[in-house]
Amino acid sequence: MSAGDAPMARAKFHAMTEGTEEDWAKVVEANRAFSRTLPDRLLMHLRLLEGDCGGVAVDRMEHSLQTATRAFRDGRDEEYVVCALVHDIGDIRGPSHHADIAAEILKPFVSEQNHWMVQHHGIFQGYYYFHYLGGDRNRRDKFKGHPHYEYTAQFCHLYDQNSFDPAYDAMPLSAFEPMVQRVCAAPQQVVRAPAKVG
Ligand SMILES: [Fe+2]
Ligand SMILES: [Fe+2]
Repeated sequence: MSAGDAPMARAKFHAMTEGTEEDWAKVVEANRAFSRTLPDRLLMHLRLLEGDCGGVAVDRMEHSLQTATRAFRDGRDEEYVVCALVHDIGDIRGPSHHADIAAEILKPFVSEQNHWMVQHHGIFQGYYYFHYLGGDRNRRDKFKGHPHYEYTAQFCHLYDQNSFDPAYDAMPLSAFEPMVQRVCAAPQQVVRAPAKVG
């Protein structure tokens, strides 16, 4: 809040059992304003990917920028490019299910196909390394026949598995910021439950 801004009106209740319609109107208004700054918070979280390489040649931010840049230069649309940029955002908070985290964040803003791709990219990316860790590189094959199988395999092959190159000339995060702002400006999918409060 800058100097001179009126403070946001707040509900009076201290327990939801005391809530009134007037209270909830204030909550809805406050959340509407907060939602508008979601793209800024996403970008802030993306910056947390900076610094740690996890044992590979570039840090997680550089990997994300390279993935998004390759998709952009290949002519993919803006929504796809944002998915490529955000696909590993969960690496910091929940590495073992990082794909689910990214997919859930993007879900209201992207197509079902792009959501599925982000959600399953971890298993599809495993085609390139699970066998070196004693696993089955073909785990993705349980999805054979799924309408988004090839689409997701392509994402990993063309943009994700090859984005660990210190010599690649990736675009800076600032180049993607307007895309994140546009794609994440308004939910595409109907949100049936009200935004969670508390
Ligand atoms: Fe990933
Ligand atoms: Fe990745």
